[in-house]
Order: sequence, then C-alpha cells, then structure tokens
Amino acid sequence: MVDVRSEPERRLRAAGILQEVSARLGPVARVRLGELEGEAFLARLEQMHLDVVEPLDLLYGRRTELAALVLDLAGVVLDAAAARPWPLRLLDRRREVDPGWFQRSRMIGYACYADRFGGTLAGVRDRLDYLAELGVTYLHLMPLLAPREGENDGGYAVADYEAVDPRLGTMADLEELAGELHRRGVALCVDLVLNHTAKEHAWARKAAAGDPAYRDFYLVFGDRTLPDAYQRTLPEVFPDIAPGSFTLVPEMGGWVWTTFNDYQWDLNYANPAVFRAMLRTMLELANRGVDVLRLDAVPFLWKRMGTDCQNQPEAHLLAQAFRALTRVAAPGLLFKAEAIVAPEMLVQYLGAHDRFRPECDLAYNNQLMVVLWSSLAARDARLAGRSLSRLRPEPPSTGWVTYLRCHDDIGWAVSDVDAAATGWEGFSHRRFLNDFYSGRHPGSFGRGALFQENEATGDARISGMAASLCGIEAALASGDEAELDMAVRRLETLYSVVFSFGGIPLLWMGDELALRNDPRWADDPAHAEDNRWLHRPPMDWAAAGRRADPATLEGRVFGALRRLADARRSQLALRAGGETDLLFPDDPHVLAFRRRHRRSAPLLVLANFGDGWQSVDAGLPAAVGLTEPEHVHSTRGRLDWAEGRLHLPPWGFAWLTNR
Ligand code: GLC
Repeated sequence: MVDVRSEPERRLRAAGILQEVSARLGPVARVRLGELEGEAFLARLEQMHLDVVEPLDLLYGRRTELAALVLDLAGVVLDAAAARPWPLRLLDRRREVDPGWFQRSRMIGYACYADRFGGTLAGVRDRLDYLAELGVTYLHLMPLLAPREGENDGGYAVADYEAVDPRLGTMADLEELAGELHRRGVALCVDLVLNHTAKEHAWARKAAAGDPAYRDFYLVFGDRTLPDAYQRTLPEVFPDIAPGSFTLVPEMGGWVWTTFNDYQWDLNYANPAVFRAMLRTMLELANRGVDVLRLDAVPFLWKRMGTDCQNQPEAHLLAQAFRALTRVAAPGLLFKAEAIVAPEMLVQYLGAHDRFRPECDLAYNNQLMVVLWSSLAARDARLAGRSLSRLRPEPPSTGWVTYLRCHDDIGWAVSDVDAAATGWEGFSHRRFLNDFYSGRHPGSFGRGALFQENEATGDARISGMAASLCGIEAALASGDEAELDMAVRRLETLYSVVFSFGGIPLLWMGDELALRNDPRWADDPAHAEDNRWLHRPPMDWAAAGRRADPATLEGRVFGALRRLADARRSQLALRAGGETDLLFPDDPHVLAFRRRHRRSAPLLVLANFGDGWQSVDAGLPAAVGLTEPEHVHSTRGRLDWAEGRLHLPPWGFAWLTNR
C-alpha cells in the first residue's frame, strides 16, 4: 500500500509518539536501570525516533494503533536493557565511545560450523588459540540454535530460538564462549534465521493446531489462486530439491509459503506480533553475548505480488526498525546482512538509500566474491574491474564483509551489462563458469560440482572448497609440483584481494589449510540431497598439525594467510568505511585498485589473474598518488620494476603504499 502522507507529516507524528512513549517509560526506566543508565537508555530511544517510529509507521501504522505498538516494543527493549549482564554493558560503553570498533584493519574473520570445528561450543572454546594464530578477531559460528531433527538445511530450520542445539551445548555454554571471546578481543557473530522457522517450531505447531494468532505468523492460502499468481514472478531458490515456493500442508488447510525447503515456513512480517517475537529473540541473543547477528535471507522478508519478493522496501524498513530498537538496549550489537542480491541492490542493506538510514552495519560483498572466481577462470580481470567500479561505495559508518568462500554455493551474479562491456555475452560467460568450475571445461583446474541446475533456464550454481576450485585438488591428484605451486599462488592471490578490498575479510574454515572438497559429503542421509556439503568438511586437525611446517601444503597456505593478516593490520587504508577506487591498467589480466581511508596513506593493490608474468605501467602508482611507492607485501616479497613497468609473477599480487 502506498503511504500518501508527506515525509514531514510522518516525522512530526514520529516525534510526537516518541515523546509520549518516553514520558511514560522514563520514570520506570530510571528506576530499573538506575539514573545514569536510564538516562542513556532514554537518550538513545529519543535519538532514534525516526529510525524506530517511521519504519514502524510505514510497516504497521495502518494495521495497528501506532503509539500503543511503539510503547509495547519499547517495553520489550527496556526489559532486555534491564536484563543485560554487566560485562556486556561495559562493552556497550566502549563501543558507544568507539563506534568504529568493527571497522579497524585489525579485524579478521573466520566462519565455521561449531560441530565441524570443535565438536561442541565448549570444544570451540578449547580451540581459540588456533584462531589467535591466524589473528582472528571475528568469529562467525554457523546456525547453532536448536534445529528440527533430520534435514535442517545446515541449521537454517530453527525449531527453538531459545535453546542451543543440544548436540552443541547449552545457552550457558554460549555465554561462556562469548565471554572468553570478549576477553580475547574477538567478536562473536551468530546466525539469526528470521525469514522462516522450521515447521516444528512452537509457533508453527500452534498455528497447525488452529490457534488464529499463530496462524497469522505464517502465510497460508486456502487454494492455489494466490500462490499461482505469486509464483509467476518468483524465482525458485532450490529448483532441484524444493521446487516452487508454496507447500500444501493439510493440517494448515492450505498452501504455506515456503521460499526455501518445504519444512521452512516463511514468517508473515506484515503481522506486528511476528516483529515483536523476533525482536525478543534478537535481544535474547544479544544478552547472551552475541555481538553480530547475521540476518539470514533478509531480502526475502516482505512479499509483494508481481515482484520477485526480494529487496522490497519493507524488508529494509524491517531491518532499520530492528536495528534501532535493539541498539537502544544493546548499543554494542551489530547487524550483518546476508543479502546475496544483484550488485545494484546490495549497498542499500548498509543503509545507502536516497538518504542514509542506519540499517545493517555489515554486509557480505557477494559481488567481489563472484568476480574473483570469474577472473580466475577467465584469466582476465576486466569484468571484475568494471563491475566493482559500479558498486556504490559503502556508507562511512559501515563495512563490507569480504570473502572467497562460505557454506553456500556460488551463484554467478554477473550482469549482462558488465559482461557486454567486456565483450562477452552474459549467459555464455555464466555457462563457461559453471563448466569451468565443475571441471567440464577442457583443461580446467576446477574440481567443484554443479548445484541446483535448472533445466528450464539453463542456470546453475557451483559448490566446492576454494582449494578444489583453484586447482589444488587437481594438482595433488596429478602429482604435478609446478601446477601445485601455481594453484597455491591462486589461492593466496584471491585472498590477497579479500584481505585488501576494505572491510572485514572472512576466512572459510579449512581454506587456511587448503582443505579440499569432502569426498564423504553424501554419507549423512540428511545431507545427501544437497551438495553444498561438499564444501563443509569437518576440520582436519591432523592437517592443522602441519601448519607450522612451510614445506607442507598446509604450512605454506597457513603461513601465507598469516602474513596477509599481519600486513593488513598495519594498513590504516584498509579500515572499513574507506574508499576503494578501481583502476584500469593496460594489462587485462591485472586487477588493480587503490584503497584509502581519510588521513591514511593509500594502498595500491595489484593482482595478476594470468598464468604468465604480466606488468603494469610503472607510472600507475604515481598516477594514483603513490609518488614514492613502497612495498608492503607481495608474492615474491619485493617489487619487480624493469623497462618502465612493474612486473607481477604468474597468479601473483603486490601491495604498495606511499613511503
Ligand atoms: C541463507 C543461508 C543458506 C540457507 C538459506 C535459507 O541463504 O546462507 O544456507 O539455505 O538462507 O535459510
């Protein structure tokens, strides 16, 4: 529905409502939190009035009495503030004083499944020294709340938001782990699966039992009329394992909206009770010590007929309202958007709309990931340069999460426009990438597998560990030492870009040891249908035992990543919220960009995606402000200048700054 009120009108109303709420809540807040904290609570609430009331007004103003809704939600937030443990309040204090804490170049992320890495949450705690060796300051643990039994999409089908998966431990274990991480200066990121619940969740059970309040938590249709109408413009996420977006559920008396698998029921965010329930879940996790909530599948939260039901304005309003409200109780909490969307839609999740609106603090830079793999297969960096230069910059108070691999497949978000500008045809380039990484292309070094091949559209995505995609698996199989050397360089050079693009670089568990695809991925019947388990291997601690020996593959890769982390820490230019300027060198194999952050010296990054020596004009550094270029880090440990050119070894990289 289109809101016809003018913006000033809405603002005035927002301010009025918040004044009223603040007046009613003020005395209680001062008693429950104490004078000092109560005052800070109210100040935050009032300061965020536009970020709270305006989105709620647009989302729910027509359905409910807005002032009552805001008062109710502010009460939920006050309860959480009063329950917030003291050590977390101290952390909040620091972060309010230093809001850029997560933007530092010291930030280095690591993502893993708790069970695959350490067995249990307590086991993860025992392994933290290992992460310290890599310089990790940000730990993303994959979904750890109690999932449904059997197939659960890797934990993305939550049956109980208030309990940890009993196989991993308890909420107390989570608190202990968070406490230990904080003592070590590491932030904890946890998945919040908010688009859907498992069909076994208590809300879904009550809905199925006929409770109308809970029925309204989900999207149910008595017959196929509306589902068919929606489906006409809906892409299928899992065409292979879960075709269509609706599931007939007899006990619900109709078709339930299920964007992902049939056991994952989409929540109805048009219902403010759903918003309230999820707000409580967020605050609960924050009070356990979670620093960053990864908002799973956030683009999907709002449905609109005639669209693909992704990236709707309301999905952004929801994220904005959630953020503002959670911040009032837990100012140290961050949101990370999992928005794997077209590049032109991405930066909006960091709040970059027609005017800046605080939304998520972090977002996955899916575009960078995709074009890195595209450049590697094509041995050509032009498409990467072009599409990255079109990516709108992140707002200064936010940051990208840069990554090479994660638990998901790689979908080729290469736009036809960018492909055409490189002289390629989008569809055939995407097909080439699938052929290349599934090893079907003649001479390919990729050893991945196709995921969710859609016969109707010809689309597919790719599964596989980085080491298998970049040629390490193939080289080990053939025993070709020279090829192995090149493959390791590829991995290092890919990560050299991930570590220098700006933002938080996120290592996917096992990449630091060049772990390959898990050959036993299908052994577990709950995984057998989903080949993303190919790149979710259990941690190989025997391989990790070799990490200190540079003569081993593991030692070589582990050492390379440690050196990237060390080099990164000293570069102020790599702070999140800075500027990345793509450069277009005269050699198509070389990706080049300059990273700057306000007063810092710029950093020039060059990465060679060719299998021979390549070079750029020696004047390039000076042209971008590096009048006295100095070596920071590179494949060879030095810069090779000759004949007016700066030379890069095959699959090599170099970082330069200004002396
Ligand atoms: C996200 C997760 C993915 C999962 C989906 C549904 O995209 O990364 O693994 O399948 O959400 O929850």
